Amino acid sequence: MDSLLIYGAYGYTGELISRTAADRGFDPILAGRDPDRLHPLGTELDCRSRAFGLTGDIEAQLSGVDAVLNCAGPFETTAEPLVEACLNRGVDYLDITGELPVFERLARRDGAASDAGITLMPGVGYDVVPTDSLAAHLQKRLPEATHLSLALSASGSLSGGTLKTLINGFGSGSAVREDGQLRAIPTASKQRVVDFGAGTETVMTIPWGDLSTAYRTTGIPNIAVYVAVPDAVRHALMVARPFEGVLATELVQRFLKGLVDRFVEGPSEADRKKNETIVWGEAWSEESGETVQSILRTPDTYALTVEAALACAERVTAGEAPAGVATPAGAFGPDLVVELPGVTRQDR
Ligand SMILES: NC(=O)c1ccc[n+]([C@@H]2O[C@H](COP(=O)([O-])OP(=O)(O)OC[C@H]3O[C@@H](n4cnc5c(N)ncnc54)[C@H](OP(=O)(O)O)[C@@H]3O)[C@@H](O)[C@H]2O)c1
Repeated sequence: MDSLLIYGAYGYTGELISRTAADRGFDPILAGRDPDRLHPLGTELDCRSRAFGLTGDIEAQLSGVDAVLNCAGPFETTAEPLVEACLNRGVDYLDITGELPVFERLARRDGAASDAGITLMPGVGYDVVPTDSLAAHLQKRLPEATHLSLALSASGSLSGGTLKTLINGFGSGSAVREDGQLRAIPTASKQRVVDFGAGTETVMTIPWGDLSTAYRTTGIPNIAVYVAVPDAVRHALMVARPFEGVLATELVQRFLKGLVDRFVEGPSEADRKKNETIVWGEAWSEESGETVQSILRTPDTYALTVEAALACAERVTAGEAPAGVATPAGAFGPDLVVELPGVTRQDR
């Protein structure tokens, strides 16, 4: 692979990606803001390392770099400074964000990225490679689809960084895409029953990245993304809805993130080996009334993120993606996800 800089290399997910990239001989440049955590990892993996924060001169740190893979989240803070530097240096940019506002903001840099001749590809992790690939697959099966529903059911725990990113979104409610426009809706206000192939589950909408990316990949104007959560959690969220604004206050956010820092570790390697996820999707045509459904089974979300991110980075640096803002399946097609180890797809 051409020279890949992995930013956030010593974070939970960044380290998993860095270790695999080094094992596979990609010779990545590891980067992050804390030299005391970064350089020992660089030494252990026998990789070059560059310590820099995102408030100084980032461009100078991109010399000799062909692509940046940003693993430092929440991306609300980290994506734009790196994207600006990549645009100015003519360096491709990928990240593993799942944050809807970040996808929407980066989509507006399409013209700038085309002019710079670079690819901007946010969302090359578990969010959104499986769902984006499934959306593209369903649209291929039903090209006249007007409605797309996607739902996730995942076993296993979350890393501290993922939890902090979720906490950032607390208090903002949920969202759907209707007639091509994003529409905010209250948390847990839209629910349905989904058959994941191992029994049915009641799922609720989440403001997932696919509301941006699946729209760009497929052009389908009505999109909802759901997640299966334990019934008790779903009911608690419904009850707590009137007090949602409190969760967005700085004091509460700082308190919750402090708890994450103190108590959250992992998931462990053993967890990652046993966890799996199911991604369900349905496309429906308002005109013909026809419906198609497909299901993906994938390994653990973090294990899949490692494989998906490196596969996309390899293909972007090989020049396989167009210049501009690209979605993973928009650039590489609906089979992107089934080419990753341990992923199967079934049509209904
Ligand atoms: N798309 C997906 O499916 C997927 C999968 C896994 C993770 N994620 C996302 O990836 C992000 C990282 O997750 P994680 O589990 O690796 O979390 P983590 O262990 O907390 O690591 C976060 C990393 O980001 C760095 N960072 C955070 N804010 C920064 C800033 N302002 N400037 C520079 N560096 C900054 C941290 O550096 P310091 O320690 O020095 O602050 C650390 O290296 C989260 O947003 C998570 O939601 C997405």
